[in-house]
Amino acid sequence: MRAIEFDEFGGPEVLAEVERPDPAPEDGEVLVEVEAAGVNFADILTVAGQYAPPESLPHVPGMEVVGRTGDGRRVLGYLTAGGYASKAAVPVRDLVEVPEGVGAGEAAALLVQGLTAWHLLRSAARVGAGETVVVNAAAGGVGSLAVQLAKRLGAGRVIATASTEDKRALALELGADAAVDGAADGYRERVLDANEGRGVDVVLDAIGGAVLDQALDALASFGRVITYGASAGTGVPTVDPGRLTMHSTLLGGLWLAPLLKESGAAGEPLRELLRLAAAGQIRPQVGAEYPLSAAAQAHTDLLARRTTGKLILTVEPRDRD
Ligand SMILES: NC(=O)c1ccc[n+]([C@@H]2O[C@H](COP(=O)([O-])OP(=O)(O)OC[C@H]3O[C@@H](n4cnc5c(N)ncnc54)[C@H](OP(=O)(O)O)[C@@H]3O)[C@@H](O)[C@H]2O)c1
Repeated sequence: MRAIEFDEFGGPEVLAEVERPDPAPEDGEVLVEVEAAGVNFADILTVAGQYAPPESLPHVPGMEVVGRTGDGRRVLGYLTAGGYASKAAVPVRDLVEVPEGVGAGEAAALLVQGLTAWHLLRSAARVGAGETVVVNAAAGGVGSLAVQLAKRLGAGRVIATASTEDKRALALELGADAAVDGAADGYRERVLDANEGRGVDVVLDAIGGAVLDQALDALASFGRVITYGASAGTGVPTVDPGRLTMHSTLLGGLWLAPLLKESGAAGEPLRELLRLAAAGQIRPQVGAEYPLSAAAQAHTDLLARRTTGKLILTVEPRDRD
């Protein structure tokens, strides 16, 4: 089979297309002929050696695939590694059928990014009707779904942040009520301005660093910041609990991988997201499709903040044999 692997940690340049033996499914796994593999920010961190380090190298990254099982079902599957390939062994409990009318990129968007958005809003922030939710990096994979889901959950006001006019326009098109520049400098003032001078109830942040720090100061009493990543590369600041007491602030976190390990990916949340997408009630955004061989380019573009929505790597039919 064709696959993308790396044999040393580094930037996108360490990714190489290779021929590898087909994976041999273990008990409880099925072989999927991959049509498209989803790209996630975590893949970049994996290649850099900064995310759940692989046991050995070379390593094939990739956590989600859309493709066909031997019995002809079109499925979406989650795996801890091995997705950037023309064939993948996927645990049955992490596999769901893709409903009619849902494209490969749309389906892939709903797995890691969609489930993250779902759990951020429902399980972590527990957004209530009428609340104000700020979604940072709102044009991104997780962000573009969080904007749409927040609205469906009855958020009263959704404020999007993003770095460019085009990204902010996308967030508004997806249902955000306001969209502001997400840079750390002046973040608090812009968010408060977008909420008529009042503090906000929830901020969802995966940028980290100074943005997370500013977000803590943009909250109403009992406001919640949920941290789930650090895309800026400056880490997550240390927060003095005394600072949280001052304004009755809740600071929480979310990491999807252990939740999926516990319960599997194919539960009700993913099925709900697929139903919503099939019914046109949410619109997963597919920002770009790359051939599998251009995985490094996809990583480069994601790192350069050039992308919106979901990125996928498509497998050419000739590479599936
Ligand atoms: N905790 C979890 O379980 C979990 C699950 C999924 C994803 N995540 C995290 O959530 C974040 C979003 O993931 P995603 O796959 O949906 O990616 P994404 O949001 O599509 O892409 C990352 C976005 O972050 C923003 N950003 C700000 N500073 C950046 C920097 N220095 N370098 C690159 N991007 C920067 C950019 O948006 P602007 O240009 O608009 O600022 C960029 O488009 C990542 O941090 C990822 O690790 C966490």
